[in-house]
Amino acid sequence: MYPGDGIGCEVADAARSVLEVARRQSSPRFDIDWIDVDWGVERFRRCGELVPDDFLGQLRELDAIWLGAIGWPETLPDSITLVPLIRIRQSFDLFACVRPVKLWPGIQSPLRNKRIGDIDLVVVRENSEGEYLNIGGRHHAGTAREVAIQTCLHTRRGVERIVRFGFELARTRRNKLTMITKSNALTHAMSLWDDVLQDVRPEFADVDCDKQHVDAAAMNLVRRPEKFDVIVASNLFGDILSDLTAMVCGGLGLAPSANLRPDRQLPSLFEPVHGSAPDIAGKQVANPIAMILSGAMMLDWLGQTNTAKRIELAVMTALADGCRTHDLGGSLSTEQMATEISVAIHGNKQFK
Ligand code: NAD
Ligand code: IPM
Ligand code: MN
Repeated sequence: MYPGDGIGCEVADAARSVLEVARRQSSPRFDIDWIDVDWGVERFRRCGELVPDDFLGQLRELDAIWLGAIGWPETLPDSITLVPLIRIRQSFDLFACVRPVKLWPGIQSPLRNKRIGDIDLVVVRENSEGEYLNIGGRHHAGTAREVAIQTCLHTRRGVERIVRFGFELARTRRNKLTMITKSNALTHAMSLWDDVLQDVRPEFADVDCDKQHVDAAAMNLVRRPEKFDVIVASNLFGDILSDLTAMVCGGLGLAPSANLRPDRQLPSLFEPVHGSAPDIAGKQVANPIAMILSGAMMLDWLGQTNTAKRIELAVMTALADGCRTHDLGGSLSTEQMATEISVAIHGNKQFK
């Protein structure tokens, strides 16, 4: 477990206690051998490095990585603290970032007249290339002649595999895929996405498919979010849209994320969509649900599907019973919310 910084540490502790309760109730029983790492800004303060030199080597031995959140801009710029996260995603080729949201029982969407089940969608974000490759530089730094350049890179292989992943996921859901680009302005990079979609689409003729530019998609996600099922987008567009989709379903405190390597040759990474939230860190008020649900996604990935379902059901029960942290208008602490979910796991007989 890699709790990270800020609320990452708070939600990690709370979520682990929930997963442990669920694990102890599982039948057949399975064990989890937790390996804890203290990587992040506190470690940097102590010994001058965020992560050990061989951090990728340590991680590659594991079955999965469960991360809280990283970043603490007051101490170190994001351009330094976030490097380990991007390195894990790219070095381990965790190309499919899966960010599901749904409108949970009792949760008020900021959009009017939306009810449970009205919004249920997944953002599938390309996670290995695109806008996130570190290609570029700054010249004449600090002078009036300063120039900054950052290049995105999209490969046919990279786009093809994420589009296929999206189609396959759509087949397990409502059979609908929307590919998001901006090929009207990014005419080189994003026209490759258009071409790939055209080439791959015949293999998935059973899936209802459309394309939207990212500006229109942002509008439509507010106007008619119920029209979306699986959204496939580039790294940056998927990042931006997944904060938006989280918010229309009640906020970042509820939105989990999985960074997957589908061939399972290396460990996948599970984390909330949210960051380290310095504005609320240290107060024990962060909502642990995004972290808990990312833990459920991890268990599902590792084959513990019943336990994963059970955790999801317990989250649903706690929310339906009115349990609320501050972000949802309530007053429960991080730990109290986790306790309510653990109690709901005990109370739930279906999966025993
Ligand atoms: P953020 O996601 O940390 O916070 C955005 C807003 O949402 C804040 O008002 C915060 O209080 C609220 N929020 C987030 N998670 C919450 C939760 N679980 N419960 C209640 N409220 C919650 O985004 P930011 O403020 O832009 O970034 C803070 C730091 O985190 C930066 O260093 C940023 O780079 C980093 N970051 C890291 C990750 C990651 O580790 N995967 C993701 C996003 C941002
Ligand atoms: C996310 C985050 C990261 C991203 C940051 C912390 C680099 O915003 O996981 O959504 O942009 O991928
Ligand atoms: Mn983000």
